[in-house]
Amino acid sequence: MRTDIVHMGAGKLTYEIRNIIRVVEKLQQLGIKVNLENIGDPVAKGEKIPEWMKRIVADLAMQDCSYGYCHTQGILETREFLAAHRNRNGGVHICPNDILFFNGLGEAITKIYGLLRSTARVITPSPTYTTHSSSEAAHAGQAPVTYPLDPQNHWYPDLRELRRSVQYNPSVAGILIINPDNPTGAVYPEEILCEIVAIAREFDLFLIADEIYQNLVYNDQRTKPLADLIGDVPGLAMNGISKELPWPGSRCGWVEIYNADKDPDFFRYVQSIINAKMVEVCSTTLPQRAIPRILEHPEYQAYLGERCRRYERFSNLAYEKLKDIPGIRINRTNGAFYMSVVFETEVLNHRQSLPIHNREARILVEELATDPEMQPDKRFVYHLLASTGICVVPLSSFNTPLQGFRMTLLEPDEAEFRRIMDRLERSIRLYLDSTSCSMGAKGILEIHSTAA
Ligand SMILES: Cc1ncc(COP(=O)(O)O)c(C=O)c1O
Repeated sequence: MRTDIVHMGAGKLTYEIRNIIRVVEKLQQLGIKVNLENIGDPVAKGEKIPEWMKRIVADLAMQDCSYGYCHTQGILETREFLAAHRNRNGGVHICPNDILFFNGLGEAITKIYGLLRSTARVITPSPTYTTHSSSEAAHAGQAPVTYPLDPQNHWYPDLRELRRSVQYNPSVAGILIINPDNPTGAVYPEEILCEIVAIAREFDLFLIADEIYQNLVYNDQRTKPLADLIGDVPGLAMNGISKELPWPGSRCGWVEIYNADKDPDFFRYVQSIINAKMVEVCSTTLPQRAIPRILEHPEYQAYLGERCRRYERFSNLAYEKLKDIPGIRINRTNGAFYMSVVFETEVLNHRQSLPIHNREARILVEELATDPEMQPDKRFVYHLLASTGICVVPLSSFNTPLQGFRMTLLEPDEAEFRRIMDRLERSIRLYLDSTSCSMGAKGILEIHSTAA
C-alpha cells in the first residue's frame, strides 16, 4: 500500500477464547471428542430455553413491528421499564434517555473505548475479559493500563495498587469494574465497590461497570449494582441478556448513563457515543421488545434461581475437586459461571507433558509447542486438549502475567461435569509431576514422573 492502512492499535485485538477453536477443529478432524469449556455461551453448552420464553419470542416474531428499525437509543417502552426497575432501589436516578441499546455489549465495549480520546486511558482489571482490555488498548495503540485482581484474596481488586496506578498515571480517566467478574467468578462486596467509587471521586475519574452477570450470584454472596453506590460520580453501567436469559444470539445489550449532567466533558463524551449509534440508525429491535415480557413473566425468577443453584452446585464441585492439588491456587466461584485456576510461580516448565494417544494429535501439539513465544500455560492447555479433549483458555490470554486457565461451569449434565472434573484433576497432577517425556517403543508417549 502507498500509505500504511493498518490502525496502530490493530495488533492489540486478539481473542484467545475463540482462537483456540482452530486447534479444536483440527483435533476433531482427527477423531478426538472435545468438551468445550472455553466459551461462555450457555446455549451452545446445551442450556434448554424454557417453552414460555420461546413463546414470547415466537409471538413477537409474528408482529410486523418487530421487523422495523427502532429508536436510536432503543425502544422507549423497554427503556422506561429498565429505568423504572433501576429507580426502584433508590441510588442514582435515571430516565429512559439515560439508556442506550447496542447490538450486544461487545459492540458497546468497542464503541465506548473507541470514542475516547486516544490519550485518555481506562484502567482495566488484570486478569480481565479481553474484549475490554483489547478494545481499550486498541483505542490507545498502547498496552493496557491495569490493576491486579488478587488470587490470594478471593480475586478481589488490589485497591492499594489501583490507587497508586491512578495517582501516578495522569492519563487514566476512568476505571473499569466487572462485577461479577469474568474470568475469575469473583463477586465484589459493597465495601470494595465503595472504595473504588471513592478513588474515582478523589481523582475526578469516571467509572465503567460491566454488570452483565449481576443477577447470577450464589454461595450466599451479596453485591450491589454501581447505580446504588455511585452517588454523584459520572459513570456507565453495562448490562445485557446474553448470559442471564440466556440469549447471546440476540446481540442485545444496553448501557445506563449516570450523572452525565455533573461533568461537561463526560456529557460530551456520552453524547458522542449516542451520536455514533445514530449514524448506525439503531440496534436489534425484536430482543428489545422481548425484554420486559420475559423479565416480568411469572416463571422468570424461579427459572433464574434454578440456574443459579446449578452454578452454585458446580462451583462447589469444581472447588472441592481441585482445591488440594499442590502447585495451583483456586478460589470458589461466587458469580457468573467461570473459574480461574492459577499455577504457582515456576511450577510450569517446557518439559512437562501429558500422554496423547492419537499420534497425529501428538505431532500437532508438539509442533505448536515449538513456538518459543508460547506461554507455559498455553502449552498446558494444548496438552490438556489433545490428551483429554477438555478445552479451556490459558489465563495469560486474559491480560495477566499469571499463569493458569479459565474454565466454565456450563456443562448442563452433572455426571458429565463430574467426569470432566475427574479428568482435569488427574491431568493437572500428572502434568505438574511430569518433568520429561520420551516416545516409547510403540510411539506412545512415556511420562517420566518425579512423583513418588
Ligand atoms: C464481562 C462480559 N461483558 C460482556 C460480554 C459480551 O456480551 P454480549 O454477548 O452482550 O456481547 C461478555 C461475554 O462473555 C462478558 O463476559
